[in-house]
Amino acid sequence: LLLYVLVAILAYLIGCISSAYIISKALFGVDIRTQGSKNAGTTNALRTFGFKAGLLTFLGDYFKGTIAVLIAMFIAHKGHLDVDLAKYIAALAVVAGHNWPVFLKFKGGKGVATTYGAMLGIAPLPTLASMLFFIVLVLVTRYVSVGSIFGVCLFPILMYMRSDYIGIWVCILLSISVIYKHKENIKRLLKGQERRLELKKK
Ligand code: G3P
Repeated sequence: LLLYVLVAILAYLIGCISSAYIISKALFGVDIRTQGSKNAGTTNALRTFGFKAGLLTFLGDYFKGTIAVLIAMFIAHKGHLDVDLAKYIAALAVVAGHNWPVFLKFKGGKGVATTYGAMLGIAPLPTLASMLFFIVLVLVTRYVSVGSIFGVCLFPILMYMRSDYIGIWVCILLSISVIYKHKENIKRLLKGQERRLELKKK
């Protein structure tokens, strides 16, 4: 049990490393959480600082998810844990760290890139399918939030199709957290006030 707790703590701490916050502070001297939608994530980095900052944020947040899952695999192999369970614990914990980072007064991002990165290390094909769905939705609607919500909510269905029963429940939790984190976006979408994706050249 102790090793599972270690997996969770390590993944949570990795999740707490907020790419958007670090990039905004280091390169632009401001806290991203005071800008735009005030979210510490890729979309807000894109709209506030432009393409390069957005891409860096995405890569950092995405691959910290993958790294957390790879570390969980490593610990699981060494410590004879259930590998799948360890990976799913890491996925939940890394997303929790991203969304509610202890070092940033629990005000982080919405967990979309990190969910995708973590799921890449667990179920690569469903992850690619969901990311494709995300991209199509964003291109069609030009609302990133719509792609984020429906993209992540596709995971429980994909896990069901793979008969991955822990996966279904973990992905339901990830979907609930994405919906919860997007509650302001959902309100704006319903009122027709959500901002569409636009690229700022900087
Ligand atoms: O993944 C976050 C995205 O769906 C919405 O971001 O900044 O528009 O709230 P934002």
